[in-house]
Amino acid sequence: MKKSMFKVLSVVLCFALLFGGAVSTSAEGSVEISRIHCTVNGDTATQRGISWFTNVETDTVVEIYSLGLINVTDALTIETECKEWDGNYMHKADISGLTAGVTYTYRIGDGEVWESGTFTTDNGDNIVNFVAVADIQASSLENFEVGQATINAAFEKMPFADFYVNLGDFTNDSTNEEWDYYAEAMDGINAAQTIIPVAGNHDSNSGWFDAMFALDTTESVQTNNGVNYSFDYGNVHVAVVNTNDMIAISNAQLTWLENDMNSTDKDWKIVFMHKSPYSLGKDIKWPDACYLQESLAAVCDETNVDLVMSGHDHMYVRTKPLNDNKVVDQEDGTTYILAGTAGSKRYEFRKFILDNYFSQEILDVAVSQANGEYFANGNLDNLDETNKGGVFNTVTVVDGVLHIESYVVGDESGETKMIDELTIVKATGENTATFTGENVQKSNIADMAGSLASLAKYALGTWLPMFLRTLPDLLTEYAATGTF
Ligand SMILES: [Fe+2]
Repeated sequence: MKKSMFKVLSVVLCFALLFGGAVSTSAEGSVEISRIHCTVNGDTATQRGISWFTNVETDTVVEIYSLGLINVTDALTIETECKEWDGNYMHKADISGLTAGVTYTYRIGDGEVWESGTFTTDNGDNIVNFVAVADIQASSLENFEVGQATINAAFEKMPFADFYVNLGDFTNDSTNEEWDYYAEAMDGINAAQTIIPVAGNHDSNSGWFDAMFALDTTESVQTNNGVNYSFDYGNVHVAVVNTNDMIAISNAQLTWLENDMNSTDKDWKIVFMHKSPYSLGKDIKWPDACYLQESLAAVCDETNVDLVMSGHDHMYVRTKPLNDNKVVDQEDGTTYILAGTAGSKRYEFRKFILDNYFSQEILDVAVSQANGEYFANGNLDNLDETNKGGVFNTVTVVDGVLHIESYVVGDESGETKMIDELTIVKATGENTATFTGENVQKSNIADMAGSLASLAKYALGTWLPMFLRTLPDLLTEYAATGTF
């Protein structure tokens, strides 16, 4: 309760920092600030990264306040960067020296025009709450506002989340126009949260993702098409994987993930990534996403990852706990969740997928937000039109219990309805780190060649027979629906 009270106080005082003079849209030639993000950047108890854009070149000024009133900027280490990016100016600030378990307010700008926000550092206890959304992938303000409404509903359900993860495809084409719409819809949300950004294939246009967020990319295999990084929050270790790397995932990044997961002694291990290995949507039929069933899943098996959350196919899917692509006891397996889309672009089930690309035995719950169909009791012939809407997920970890709830915000009703929930229980204090040292993997020519060879072997030996087997059904659906 005390934490909540401080957070509310700081949010209120955050606005006082603006002195009524903060202008984000002003006369031609004046400074406009947008695309604000506060991200994890190393130690979640003591560090953060803040990024924003301006329309003209300005100084990069950051002030940090404890409890909204006490200027603690001089006690911190803040490294700033500003560079031109596609006609605008990108600003980044890496902040370290923060105190654990404190709600801070910040204001960023050029020293005269400001915008403000808040974040709370990890207090190190074994209680972690977060929101997960995916695939807003909008091109218009109207469609970004669907995602905005979904995320607002998520924070109504979990108002004191420690962070929220966006599982990729923030925009459709990563253009200035789309990021401006995104900012108009999302700046208010992002200024009040720490965000965990995941690179989607639609965000990877010429380095846009790396430009947009102030992340610690020390261990990133590459940065052109997204980044990979990891962090601890309470008793949870999180690895963010870049599934735009070498079509889906390179051997170097798989090695990074294996080392990363073996380097933690935290009780819980979670992976966030964009492409999904298990889905009933149109994108699982291609070898890049499907390859994750073999490559990434093997690492999750070996390193005892508890939960993988992803996006890319715009629907909700949850597997049973898996090891070696087979259902196992909960404590021995990894649960995979395709987190649904928070936006308005939604996919229907491709029914030829089931029992061809994976056995229906591994599937627990699936919901198509496009037409309301859902998977239950081994069949896809179920329909509930209240499933049409934006989906969000809330995750709570308390010691040895991880609880996930997934909701749809109905298009027609505007009401929030639970579509799935799951509780995972495990013994705590049993995990030990088995990897120590540097984990910087190089994406060089040898790795690229080896990664392509691995993917080609999978594509020819495993994927192609599946694809050919389903091709008649695929073509039949294409003729009927026009969707390939
Ligand atoms: Fe995608």
